[in-house]
Amino acid sequence: MSGHILVTGATGALGTGVMVRLLETLPDTRFTILTRRPGQGAAHPRVEELRCDLMADGWTELLPRRLAQTLTGVLHMAADVRWNVSAVEALNMNTRVCARLADWASHNCHKLEHFCYVSTAYVEAPSHLKGAPGFFEHEGRVFNNSYEFSKSMGEREVLARSLPSVIVRPSLIVGDSRTGQIGRFNGLYTVLRFASQGLLPIVAGNRQAYVDIVTLDTVVKAVQLAFGRRPEPAGQIVWAISGAMSPKVEDVMNVSFQGLNAFRRQRGASAIDMPAVVPYDTYRRLYKPWFEQQASAIQKRIMEYLDVYTPYFSVTDVFRPEAGHTVVQSPDWRLALPRIVEHWCEANDIMALKPLRRWERSSNTIAS
Ligand SMILES: NC(=O)c1ccc[n+]([C@@H]2O[C@H](COP(=O)([O-])OP(=O)(O)OC[C@H]3O[C@@H](n4cnc5c(N)ncnc54)[C@H](OP(=O)(O)O)[C@@H]3O)[C@@H](O)[C@H]2O)c1
Repeated sequence: MSGHILVTGATGALGTGVMVRLLETLPDTRFTILTRRPGQGAAHPRVEELRCDLMADGWTELLPRRLAQTLTGVLHMAADVRWNVSAVEALNMNTRVCARLADWASHNCHKLEHFCYVSTAYVEAPSHLKGAPGFFEHEGRVFNNSYEFSKSMGEREVLARSLPSVIVRPSLIVGDSRTGQIGRFNGLYTVLRFASQGLLPIVAGNRQAYVDIVTLDTVVKAVQLAFGRRPEPAGQIVWAISGAMSPKVEDVMNVSFQGLNAFRRQRGASAIDMPAVVPYDTYRRLYKPWFEQQASAIQKRIMEYLDVYTPYFSVTDVFRPEAGHTVVQSPDWRLALPRIVEHWCEANDIMALKPLRRWERSSNTIAS
């Protein structure tokens, strides 16, 4: 069936994977991409790019009238995915933009069959680490950070409008289960980046905590599902998660360091010690004051930055979606994760093979 889908976030970690698959599986559909930087991807005869900064004033008024007349679908993936921005910044990008797009679509797109909003599973996190940096309470609901809060408000904006909406809720996205590929190395990959250089002596969390990772192809499948049938009733929720099959922190650490060290040894580089995992309270009371006194400015910045990961390494239960929701299950992490780590090493070989930097005190630079 022919169609025309408006896409935001097509250049991101998820968006690049989604676009490849949608082009393959919807051969009669055209796509219009809203992007700040056109020309990043390969040109395709069924893809049109429009330069658009979703944070600019009045951007919906600049959208061509013909677009609204032909659109059958909207796929909204663009977001500010940082976990450490202020609530105002997060709300501006993740909630207001969503509200604006939903408003524009509900008023102008009379042929619309699907409005798919990519949210996050963590709008309903299984547990929260109260007192962790970024911890947020709003109307009796708690969130690990302003990002989760703003995505939850984004969902609310979509559901408040008369739209054929589907909400996709992925957990922590990692690469494709077969190839390891992903458009950008965000999120959990940051930990790998610092750890690979020996810049991560400890991680605050719990070795037995669940880390719900979802492979890129699983999220792409969830998006495809959202466009595969008309959402009736509107407001359906599709989760893309590992759920009860989630690995634990120690599993993710073991597989990541085994993969990284195998890659290093094969190329003559020394192995890296796995960071110790310490409970957040111990970290906050014992290690953090020590880092604040002894570490260099750069070391402090890294540890501060990594504070935002703590809630994600402290989750005491697995996601348990409601019975009426759809769940797209991520494949077994035991098979997928080694390939994903290997792909990161291959794609970032200079970083993966860097000589270890010593974690030393009282200097403003890290010894190389
Ligand atoms: N990655 C995860 O682990 C994860 C987990 C759960 C849910 N999600 C959700 O999945 C979606 C995609 O995430 P991602 O990881 O792919 O994010 P990403 O790699 O950071 O990509 C973000 C995308 O949003 C676009 N964007 C950001 N600000 C924009 C603006 N002002 N105007 C126009 N475009 C803008 C970016 O375009 P540019 O090319 O211009 O930067 C990029 O295409 C998000 O909604 C996120 O909340 C992600």
